[in-house]
Amino acid sequence: MAVTTKAQTDISRIAKDTRDHVLISWSAQGQVQPLVVTGAEGVWFYSGERRILDFSSQLINSNLGHQHPKVVRAIKEQAEKLCYIGAAFTDEARATLARMLAEVAPGDLTKTLFTTGGTEAVESAIKMARLYTGRHKILTYWRSFHGQTQGAMTAGGDSRRWANEPGIPGVVHFLQPDPYRSIFGNDAQKALAHVEEVIWYEGPQHIAAIMVEPIIGSAGLIVPPDGFIEGLRTLCDRYGIVLILDEVMTGFGRTGKWFAAEHAKVAPDIMTFAKGVNCGYVPLGGAMVDEPIAKHFEDHVLWQGLTYSGHALGCAAGVATLEAYREEHVIENSAGMGDLLLRELRAIGERHPSVGDVRGKGLFVGIELVKDKKSKEMLERWNGPSQKVANAIKSALMERNVYIFARWNVLFIAPPLIINEEELRIGIRAIDDVLGIADRYAQTGTL
Ligand SMILES: Cc1ncc(COP(=O)(O)O)c(C=O)c1O
Repeated sequence: MAVTTKAQTDISRIAKDTRDHVLISWSAQGQVQPLVVTGAEGVWFYSGERRILDFSSQLINSNLGHQHPKVVRAIKEQAEKLCYIGAAFTDEARATLARMLAEVAPGDLTKTLFTTGGTEAVESAIKMARLYTGRHKILTYWRSFHGQTQGAMTAGGDSRRWANEPGIPGVVHFLQPDPYRSIFGNDAQKALAHVEEVIWYEGPQHIAAIMVEPIIGSAGLIVPPDGFIEGLRTLCDRYGIVLILDEVMTGFGRTGKWFAAEHAKVAPDIMTFAKGVNCGYVPLGGAMVDEPIAKHFEDHVLWQGLTYSGHALGCAAGVATLEAYREEHVIENSAGMGDLLLRELRAIGERHPSVGDVRGKGLFVGIELVKDKKSKEMLERWNGPSQKVANAIKSALMERNVYIFARWNVLFIAPPLIINEEELRIGIRAIDDVLGIADRYAQTGTL
C-alpha cells in the first residue's frame, strides 16, 4: 500500500492552493505549475527530499545564497526591536545602511532614497532626474529591462514592454552596443556616435537622463565594449544630462566588483539598486544620488514617498548583508569563481556548435545560442514568438537538479556569490550535458 507522508500532503496542498489562488508572473496561467519549495540553504533549495542547485540565484538576487545565518539573525533581532517606522521618522537600521551604501558606492553618491524594490528605484530615479534638470526625456537602450511599473516598463526595451504600451511619454530608445552582434561591432566610438546623433535629434535641452544597465541583464546579458560607459559619461557631461546607472541586477558583487560601474571607472549621477542589497530576504531597493543632486533637494521638495520606504526589516537585513560581503570576502569570491566559470563555459562552448558567444563578468555569465557559429543567426529570435529550446534546456537541467534562468537564445548563469569550486563544477557539468539539445535543434530544427 502506498504511504502518503505529511510532507507529500503538504506539497500537494500547496500546489493546489497555488494553482487555484495565485496569479503567476509572466505566464499564461494554464501553462505553469510552479515547483513547491520547502526550504533552502546556501546555494541549494529544496522541494521535499529533492535538492536543487540554484545556478541563477533565483532572479539573480540571492547573492549571499539562501538563509544566510547572519542576515536571518539580523531580521529576527530587528523584528524584536522595531518592525516598522514611517518614512517621516528615522531609525538605526535605515541610517546605518544609508551610510554603508555611501561608503561602497562609486563616486560621490552619498544619499539614498529607499524603495521596496528595483522598479520603484527606477521610477524614483526618473522622477529625480526630471525634477533636477527640469527636462523630461529619458534615453535608454532597446535591449534593456528596468522594471514593471508604467515608467520603468516604458524605459525597458524588450518585448516585456509591449503589453504595457503606449506607456509614458518622453522615453526614447537607442541601440545598445553589443560586441558580438551589433552593427557597431566592438567599436565603442561608433556606438557613442549613434547616441550623440539621438541626443541631437531629441534636443539635448529636453533630455533629463540617459539610463542604462552597465552590463545588460535580463535583456540578454550583454557587456558593452570598453570605453562605452566612459563615453556615455562624457556625453552626459557635455549636454548637462543626468547619467543613471541601473545596478539593480549588477550591483553588490555580481560582476566581481561592488558595482559594475567600477569596471568602467565611471560614477553615475544616480544609481539604482535592489536585489543584492539584502538578497531579497526582505523587499528593498533604492536610488542613490550624487552630491549636486542631493544639494538640489536641500531646498527643492523631493516629490516622492512610499509607505515602506526604508523598511526597518529590509534595512537591517541590508546592514547584515553588506557586512557579510566584507567579512566573508564574497565579492573577491565572485571575481575568482567568475573567472573560472567564464573560462570553463568558453571551453565548453568551443565544443558545442550551437554556442555562439559566452560573455560576462564575475558570476554573471550569458551563453548565447545560435543556429550557426559563422552566420550568428539566433537559435530562437530575441523577442520572437517561441523560446522552446531555452525551455527544453531549463527542463533538462531541472531533471538534473540544476536551476537556471533562460530567455529566448540566452542562458543566464549567475549562481550565489558564495559558491565554491565543487558546487560550480556540478552546474557546469550539467550545462555541458544539456547543450546537446541546442546542438540538435541547430542542426535538425527539432528538439
Ligand atoms: C536592471 C533591472 N532594473 C530593475 C529591475 C526591477 O527590479 P524589481 O523586480 O526588484 O522591481 C530589474 C529586475 O530584474 C532589473 O534587472
